[in-house]
Amino acid sequence: MAISVPHGGTLINRIETKYDITNISYELEIDSMALSDLELIANGAYSPLTGFLGKEDYESVVNHMRLKNDLVWSIPITLPVTDVESSKLKVGEKVKLLHQNIVYGVLELQEIYVPNKLEEAKKVFGTTDPLHPGVQKLFNRPNVYLAGPIHLVKFPPKNKEFIPYYKSPADTRNEFIKRNWNTVVGFQTRNPVHRAHEYIQKTALEIVDGLFLNPLVGETKSDDIPAKIRMESYKVLIENYYPADRVYLAVFPAAMRYAGPREAIFHAIVRKNYGCTHFIVGRDHAGVGDYYGTYDAQKIFSSFSSEEIGITILPFEHSFYCTKCKSMASSKTCPHSKENHLILSGTKVREMLRNGIAPPPEFSRPEVVRVLIEGLKGAN
Ligand code: ADX
Repeated sequence: MAISVPHGGTLINRIETKYDITNISYELEIDSMALSDLELIANGAYSPLTGFLGKEDYESVVNHMRLKNDLVWSIPITLPVTDVESSKLKVGEKVKLLHQNIVYGVLELQEIYVPNKLEEAKKVFGTTDPLHPGVQKLFNRPNVYLAGPIHLVKFPPKNKEFIPYYKSPADTRNEFIKRNWNTVVGFQTRNPVHRAHEYIQKTALEIVDGLFLNPLVGETKSDDIPAKIRMESYKVLIENYYPADRVYLAVFPAAMRYAGPREAIFHAIVRKNYGCTHFIVGRDHAGVGDYYGTYDAQKIFSSFSSEEIGITILPFEHSFYCTKCKSMASSKTCPHSKENHLILSGTKVREMLRNGIAPPPEFSRPEVVRVLIEGLKGAN
């Protein structure tokens, strides 16, 4: 079985529901992004991380895309708190981590430090523009970072509706082995699966054993389609158009950063931890607006050796339906001019769906469109 080796060599597991919290008096309310990160550190998706980054690791990640031990890591995983909150805590103590008054975790507080957020924005997002949703989130979060190992004491987590699809990397690895998959391609998405997504997934499926459809269901920007509606659309798509034994659907409970190239590396490494051997990076992966070049998220991988990344990147060209080819295609396979290519922006499609207008079947499967239009009616 050629299943992937976890990043750093060992799959982390810090889910400890029997952890004794009775004598811990320090408490901290954390936001939903920190809760997502807590869950993903604990279930091993962020292996080798065992907690929120300390200052040295943080600075190394921001400046060099590596942890201080040199292992590739591109997105800082941090726990921001206010000055007032941090002044109430003590290094060396344990702190209960609460979200909406429920205790989810424990932090062994090892460090309190003040980050240079402008530098973080510049290096991680490539911009300090506060209109960039990831930068905005970074600036809106408080200004002091806490660091140290964590324990997740409550499981299953908050997103109850996704529990059947909430799988840890240990679970997905077992499933891949059970299915006899030697090669598995991971697919990150924060959107409904439209025909272009389907095309690149199925093209990859021609050369690997299985597809791990792993939609991100943590926090996204407000105009992205809510995860609950997307999940329905993935199910209906798989039922109608995918061979059930070659696709596996599970959620990725992380928050979206919109950090483009840096986030592509992060997404790939995390999917390696879930057991994938291959990972799809298409056009403007994890991008937003026009902050990143169409293929920047593919090019960034050339800064590292393939051994350092440890998962094979499958780069895809911008794909579309061509009215002359009468099929899905890309500039690599289609000789026709742009006027023949059906290309709709994500923003345009979301607007159409919200107004109850169906994009053409060449853009999105009618079954998917129906679920999205119905779902969005309820959401408005
Ligand atoms: S993302 O923010 O999660 O990257 P999205 O869900 O739209 O956004 O994309 C999922 C994956 O499909 C990414 O790797 C992205 O680059 C790729 N992708 C999306 N649309 C296209 C397209 N038309 N052609 C090629 N790749 C695409």
